[in-house]
Amino acid sequence: MTTLGIETSCDETAIGIIEDDRVLANIVSSQIAHTKFGGVVPEIAARNHIRVIVPLMRSALEVAGVELDAIGLISVTRGPGLIGALLVGVSFAKSLAISLGRPFIGVNHLEGHIYGLHLGDEPPKHPYLVLLVSGGHTDFVLVREPFAYQTLGRTLDDACGEAFDKVAKLMGLPYPGGPYIEQRAAQGRIGRLQFPIPRPDGLSFSYAGLKTAVLYYTRDHPDYTIEDVAANFQEAALEHLVQVAERALEATGVKCLGLAGGVSVNRRLREKFTALAARTGVRLHVSPPEFCTDNAAMIARAGAARFARFGPSDLSIDVVAREKLDELQRSN
Ligand code: KG4
Ligand code: ZN
Repeated sequence: MTTLGIETSCDETAIGIIEDDRVLANIVSSQIAHTKFGGVVPEIAARNHIRVIVPLMRSALEVAGVELDAIGLISVTRGPGLIGALLVGVSFAKSLAISLGRPFIGVNHLEGHIYGLHLGDEPPKHPYLVLLVSGGHTDFVLVREPFAYQTLGRTLDDACGEAFDKVAKLMGLPYPGGPYIEQRAAQGRIGRLQFPIPRPDGLSFSYAGLKTAVLYYTRDHPDYTIEDVAANFQEAALEHLVQVAERALEATGVKCLGLAGGVSVNRRLREKFTALAARTGVRLHVSPPEFCTDNAAMIARAGAARFARFGPSDLSIDVVAREKLDELQRSN
């Protein structure tokens, strides 16, 4: 079946078209209008979605080489995210479903990120652990079987991507800062200065202390080099993920680990997790970068899986600002 995916939960408007596991089109329009504000402005995000969503869908159909009529299922992100932004995607998806006479399904954005792993060459096999690292989340999720999620740990304060963005901002780098930190870090030297690796209890994450350490360092050393701060912040931030992952693998005995979300594009993160996997005999799954950052192929894939198991969503469903993966089990 051909599924059209729609993603508008934050500042990326995205349309994806898949046929079973094959991605026919995956188009993302990132809004640059937020750059000058150093963060996402909800109303600007919603207005931009409404402007680009129709042309974007037309481009996706062209890239995929399919007619609108050939779409068998419409899948859309219903949350968590910015309400105004979500309303654009969900309203558009419902209208499309009604006008085409096709089923409609609302998908949780985080479940979408997990299904991004099912678009790679070799999808993970259940049970598997997923480290979901994005701008809004840093969660360790156990996927025992399809649609059964247990969040084993999450961040107590900032998300990992959020910490990258805030550290970038305080050094005057553009938003979103993650890719800029990675770029600058590649020219810095690890060990030239030291930031503390966060150590919260159990399988929780925390980035507030590390972020503050960087803030104080840059304030007290006005002649700091961005490259060295970036390299050592990145190293501490990623080492924290590795340490928690190691504990999660040990505690669960699960031998399969997936990385999902925007931060999982980071090459140093992939290097460190490849080393962890080799050390612990765990199978590591990562998708190509275009399926890690916000995209709609992952929403189409998650929607198709849910539809096959539970059928369509009701056309009266609402959008949600928050929604826990653990509460999603076996329902639509
Ligand atoms: O998954 P995503 O596209 O959107 C959310 O659902 O949040 O993730 C965006 C986050 C941003 O915080 C961005 O700075 C971060 O992912 N990010 C990175 C890299 N690329 C994107 N962080 C570190 N290194 C990168 N290369
Ligand atoms: Zn996301």
